[in-house]
Amino acid sequence: MDRRNFLAGSVMAGGAGALGAVEAARAAAGAEEKIRIVGISCSPRKAKTTAAAVRTALEAAAAVSARIEPQLIDLGGTTIGGWQGGATPDSPQEIMDDFPSEVEPYLETPGLGGLILGSPVYFRSMSALCKAVLERMYVLRKPKFYLADIPLGVVAVGSFRNGGQELVIEQIQAAMLCQEVMVVGGKPKAHQGATLVNAYNDDITQDELGMQTAKLLGMRVAEAALKVRKP
Ligand SMILES: Cc1cc2nc3c(=O)[nH]c(=O)nc-3n(C[C@H](O)[C@H](O)[C@H](O)COP(=O)(O)O)c2cc1C
Repeated sequence: MDRRNFLAGSVMAGGAGALGAVEAARAAAGAEEKIRIVGISCSPRKAKTTAAAVRTALEAAAAVSARIEPQLIDLGGTTIGGWQGGATPDSPQEIMDDFPSEVEPYLETPGLGGLILGSPVYFRSMSALCKAVLERMYVLRKPKFYLADIPLGVVAVGSFRNGGQELVIEQIQAAMLCQEVMVVGGKPKAHQGATLVNAYNDDITQDELGMQTAKLLGMRVAEAALKVRKP
């Protein structure tokens, strides 16, 4: 089953600004290649608040430039386990689950320019699914570091204000430094990343401040991706 969800064309009205206008004109002229920004929602609940927050960040990223091609991977409903004893980076096929089909191909392919990882807050830590994904990214370090120099932004959603969102972001950022990514936060004042509160029965759009942090994160990841991947 293909869980990819392209968001191309979902550019937010009025959000592009000066940088977006310039980039859009260049892209229209066919002068520059596309830059794919992949957002991965690591909640076991499909299409819920974490997925919505990651989608919001991706839409804001797409509004920065016509070169940005957003792609949402919602891991809700998948089965992905942590690293296992018998496997090595050279023989990861020992682990039979959804990681090789639902995650790996989208991070190894050329054209990847940015990454947004999202996790719900579970007891002031990341979800087990998110931790499993981070461990399984071991295979992305061989034969080369596929994620090297890729700007990474992080989204965390909890039910409470100060529920551990910033802790989760830090945990994910720390793990991803092992992939040689370039960790970025959001534009001011979302300095660490996107921190959302699910206090309205899974309707994350009612958390105005949180939604703003998701947009500011997406913008920052897009801007960094454009700088790293010059035409
Ligand atoms: C096992 C478990 C532990 C949780 N622990 C926290 C917590 O420590 N802090 C918090 O703010 N929310 C906590 N929550 C609430 C979730 O983070 C929140 O409902 C979030 O929106 C879920 O994301 P989803 O809608 O993408 O599944 C917890 C939820 C579960 C199921």
